[in-house]
Amino acid sequence: MKLLLMGPPGAGKGSQSKKLVEAYDLQSISTGEMFREAYKKGDPMGEKAMEYIRQGELVDDELTNRVVRERLSHERPDARFLLDGYPRTVNQARALDKILTEKGTRLTAVINIVVDKEVIIERMAGRRVCRQCAATYHTKFRPPRVENVCDACGGDLHQREDDKPASVRNRLNIYESKTRPIIDYYKGRGFLINIDGEQSFEKVFRDIQRALRDLT
Ligand code: AP5
Ligand code: MG
Ligand code: ZN
Repeated sequence: MKLLLMGPPGAGKGSQSKKLVEAYDLQSISTGEMFREAYKKGDPMGEKAMEYIRQGELVDDELTNRVVRERLSHERPDARFLLDGYPRTVNQARALDKILTEKGTRLTAVINIVVDKEVIIERMAGRRVCRQCAATYHTKFRPPRVENVCDACGGDLHQREDDKPASVRNRLNIYESKTRPIIDYYKGRGFLINIDGEQSFEKVFRDIQRALRDLT
């Protein structure tokens, strides 16, 4: 199984990815997480990516495609994985097709989480992330047991730099112009599953599970 999870920033990709990875025994491949990890380690690739991320810009296709190609190069054709946040441009979608075709494989399905702009803004404003283990919370929708402390590891919670309002607006505009066109790209290939993301965490997850069941 090879899944792709897409949707605007703050749609809940990371939240659903965590559940899907466990339920279907998949490797999680999130370009956003890979960039943030690399930055935390002081890797030059991460430093370069963070210059774009801070502004809410997309990291350039060349660098992003290279990182994904390298990550997938170790995987066998039958590897099970879930891509979260990649591809994000039509150019990246083509690059991914090429990587998978070279391996003699293809995507199983593309899950598109649909959420309205107002909901996104509220979700990103309240998101808090653990500095240590990257677990994600929300001040209102998924508060930690103790304020600003990670339930999982006791680490500090903080707000992502790109969740500040100016950056959020830019990310939403870029989503509309660069990423939304991919929906048609995958629709045309018969891969697309739309999921209503404006429901509880559990209901969104159940809808995805049902859609995947119908597929087989
Ligand atoms: P990335 O990390 O991928 O960010 P994103 O796509 O903007 O998505 P988010 O992580 O912000 O949101 P999410 O959908 O994962 O939502 P979450 O589950 O956290 O990328 C960051 C940056 O890296 C990009 O802007 C870009 O610069 C760069 N980048 C990454 N990939 C790239 C690529 N391929 N090409 C170029 N550049 C790239 O949920 C959000 C909040 O809502 C949380 O607080 C959560 O608790 C809450 N929530 C989630 N679901 C629900 C629900 N059902 N009900 C109530 N609350 C909910
Ligand atoms: Mg995410
Ligand atoms: Zn933690």
